[in-house]
Amino acid sequence: MESIITIKELNFSYSPGKQVLKNIDLNIKKGETFGIIGPTGAGKSTLLLHLNGLLTGEGEVRVDNIPVTKKTGPEVREKVGMVFQNPDNQLFCPTVFEDIAFGLYNSGFKKEEVKTRVEKMLKKLQLTELKNLSSHHVSFGEKKRISLASVLVMEPRVLCFDEPFANLDYSSIFNIIKEIKRLDMTRIIVSQDILLVLSICDRVAVMNKGEVIRTAPAEIIARERTLLKETGLDYQPYLDIINKGCGGPPRGQGISHL
Ligand SMILES: Nc1ncnc2c1ncn2[C@@H]1O[C@H](COP(=O)(O)OP(=O)(O)OP(=O)(O)O)[C@@H](O)[C@H]1O
Ligand SMILES: [Mg+2]
Repeated sequence: MESIITIKELNFSYSPGKQVLKNIDLNIKKGETFGIIGPTGAGKSTLLLHLNGLLTGEGEVRVDNIPVTKKTGPEVREKVGMVFQNPDNQLFCPTVFEDIAFGLYNSGFKKEEVKTRVEKMLKKLQLTELKNLSSHHVSFGEKKRISLASVLVMEPRVLCFDEPFANLDYSSIFNIIKEIKRLDMTRIIVSQDILLVLSICDRVAVMNKGEVIRTAPAEIIARERTLLKETGLDYQPYLDIINKGCGGPPRGQGISHL
């Protein structure tokens, strides 16, 4: 399958002497759901910000064959949408409607076209009832949905999510998963929630200390317990807790076992 994103020997530092991305090589294919996992501070969010030119390092990042540079940034950002971890960084207009319409107006769409597209998106993400409220007066889960709507309405070729499941209840998580699965563009998901990444992504890259140390299909990464343990990403303890309880007697035996 053809690549939509290619990264070659990417290096990046926020400040001299502390390299945050080290020799990253990565290909992301058209239409796939690609996961990026790694411990905190591994460089996942930093890498994501290189995909739409919000950061630029040494080396090469190409989107749809366009080299990502400060100059091509605006063009690249039309192709690569970014849903940030914190929706407050994405929403700043007086109403939900305007937050979703903002990018369309900025890209020069006419008022009627903006209205049609935004109304359609509000309906699709079940946000119609909120459209006249301020995005700052709705719940965190709703803010996340509004952020997704504000990016999706631009119809990007690639959609990046930074920690889309953080601080959400299970029903909101499954709603986001449903939306992610329904999309047909390339999706890139950075998340600490390794079980969710492994269950919804086609391929997964494992990052550690600024490097991509492994890229493989999700079902293969899921079985690489040594690699996951070494990077602090082993999910087995969660499964053990579900099966056996947290250091207590096996489930179902209750206190009679003690
Ligand atoms: N704006 C910044 N200025 C300076 N250093 C930064 C900045 N943002 C991140 N860093 C540093 O770069 C490194 C990678 O951070 P990054 O946010 O990319 O990690 P991450 O893998 O996304 O972590 P997390 O899982 O906690 O979100 C960390 O050491 C972090 O302290
Ligand atoms: Mg991060």
